[in-house]
Amino acid sequence: MDQQTLERSLVDLPLGSIRYYDQVGSTNDQAARWIAEGAPNLSLILADEQTAGRGRSGRQWITPRGVALAVSVVLYPTLEDSDVLPRMTALGALAICDALRNTYRLPAQIKWPNDVILNRRKVAGVLAEAQWTGSDLAAVVLGLGINVASASVDGAVLPASALRFPATSVEDVLGRPVDRLEMLRAVLVEFLRWRKRMGWPDFVRAWESRLAFRGEWVQVFSGRGSSDTGALPLLREGQIAGLTPDGSLKLTVRSGDVVTVQFGEVRLSPLKSEAG
Ligand code: BTN
Repeated sequence: MDQQTLERSLVDLPLGSIRYYDQVGSTNDQAARWIAEGAPNLSLILADEQTAGRGRSGRQWITPRGVALAVSVVLYPTLEDSDVLPRMTALGALAICDALRNTYRLPAQIKWPNDVILNRRKVAGVLAEAQWTGSDLAAVVLGLGINVASASVDGAVLPASALRFPATSVEDVLGRPVDRLEMLRAVLVEFLRWRKRMGWPDFVRAWESRLAFRGEWVQVFSGRGSSDTGALPLLREGQIAGLTPDGSLKLTVRSGDVVTVQFGEVRLSPLKSEAG
């Protein structure tokens, strides 16, 4: 991959500028620096390899060379953008989920709030980071990490013991090679489609309709201050009932009451860990 090939394959999409890197620490950090220099709205950064990729709750995110997609998009929220961070995060998850469904016919789902899973294994993650000017939200960097080939989830890269949730790749599930540029394009097409509809009620309905583990018993943990190996405090246990209009998770707890869990530094695990 290189700058020219990347630009050429996305030429017809209404993006801002595009920057390609063979290797960076984190595309989200690179995007944050670019915002300070005046990056246009919907600018995109893609790296073939990340050496210090970041996941949610301070976790690391490994992107080995040539086998995954590590992308960040610069967004300047408008006044119409309410509940911006949950919706931005959902935007990233919906875009990946719908690209996998519509282009690759894969049964992708969203593990609330923002992981994309295939066959109960994580295939992609989303990290939305806000930039503030005083108390005003100035910009959002939306980072998308997708495990495309098997080697992106290879035990040699990250031991299974370091993963909090089992991982898979698109190629593992699809059973054939996937062109990363074609996949990126599919994700960006869905991304641009949903970006226009973020304030509409059908946005949260779409997010809800793709929820994984509907009706199943799950545990929701606080992800704050966690390490990769440390135990996380349990916040709630219940059956997934859906989402509220602001994207909070509705759980039916043992008493039969429905409680909500707000979007934030949380992590969800099904009580029954894997299918089959
Ligand atoms: C998670 O599941 O914890 C979120 C993972 C987000 C990873 C992506 S890869 C591109 C962008 N740059 C980063 O450093 N992180 C995000």
